[in-house]
Amino acid sequence: MVIGLMGFGTIGAGVYELAKELEELSIKYVLDIRQVEIPELTHRAEDLFEDAEVDTVVEVMGGLHPAYEFVSAALKAGKNVVTANKYLVATYYDELLALAKANGVAFRCTAAVGGGIGWLTALERVRRIEPINAVEGIMNGTTNYILSNMTQNGLSFDTALSEAQALGYAEADPSADIDGLDVKHKLLLSANIAFDVSLNVNDIFTAGIRSITDGDIKNFKERGLVCKLLGVACKEEGKVAAFVQPNLFPADALTASVPTNFNLITYDTAYTGRMSFYGQGAGRYPTGANVVQDLLDIVGGKEEFYSKEGAPCAIANEIVSFQYYLRTTSAKKDAVKAETWGDAVLTQKMSVAEMAKLLEEIKQEDPRAFIAAVRS
Ligand code: HSE
Repeated sequence: MVIGLMGFGTIGAGVYELAKELEELSIKYVLDIRQVEIPELTHRAEDLFEDAEVDTVVEVMGGLHPAYEFVSAALKAGKNVVTANKYLVATYYDELLALAKANGVAFRCTAAVGGGIGWLTALERVRRIEPINAVEGIMNGTTNYILSNMTQNGLSFDTALSEAQALGYAEADPSADIDGLDVKHKLLLSANIAFDVSLNVNDIFTAGIRSITDGDIKNFKERGLVCKLLGVACKEEGKVAAFVQPNLFPADALTASVPTNFNLITYDTAYTGRMSFYGQGAGRYPTGANVVQDLLDIVGGKEEFYSKEGAPCAIANEIVSFQYYLRTTSAKKDAVKAETWGDAVLTQKMSVAEMAKLLEEIKQEDPRAFIAAVRS
């Protein structure tokens, strides 16, 4: 396989190093805007598309543009594409799948969800024989690093975020991590593949951890609870719910114990039941290794995406309900209060759709409001 690698950042350098160890893989070009000292460097994307010897393009630049233009051009030029870019694939899902199919090339993105975990390939296998009822989990290493360090080591939010950035876990703009957007993109890919649908990424309710405080963490600890940011999607009687939000688990729950940049992602299927995948969800070598696995799968003859193109499907977040921790200065909390928890309330049970509407209203008055669903 002759490869054109687009992006020589954290992940690109990992892919480069790992691919060099394998005789099946040969990197002919590395596209990067910077002047990095490697013999394969080019600043011209066209070199990768125009060279007939290149059969596969790896996109690990991140961001939407020019990644979208480059990946589209590569597929149209008849190149297989492997990417770790969840933002790109979640945004142009239908279009990129159709483009790959029309050009008869492989399109794979295993490293886009779960970093080093082979999550999408696990979904691809299980869906061959079992209906999938739900996919959910900790899918973002940066926010898990922040939450576990605030809880266990008493770090401030800002210090923990700076450490996650220094360790190479965070997105170029860490807003994507702390506002839950990164999980939203990963959840969309997981749900589309699990349920054979094509969800609208903008319809996934998404609440992040940007406004969590030391006071919230203290409130949780006093009640034996641990906060984790999760993406959740489930299917019941043909309806699909999909949402990203902080959750409170009992301290002895499996999810509560996931440390640092690790991810824990679970599917729930008709025959096997719950099956969880645990590992490093971010970082140079875990993510780079999953990109290289995709390349080897293509060398081995894998041509299809993980599922067929899905049918458009409206999101039905009224089918799932929780009690919520709600910390806000807005008086709107009083109308939904079941209990007082320090300076916050525990709400009555309400659907995710109801909470999405309430939070949108509350944020007009109190942008620092914070919610977390109480889980058993
Ligand atoms: N920023 C992402 C994370 C990188 O922290 O999980 C891996 O997708």
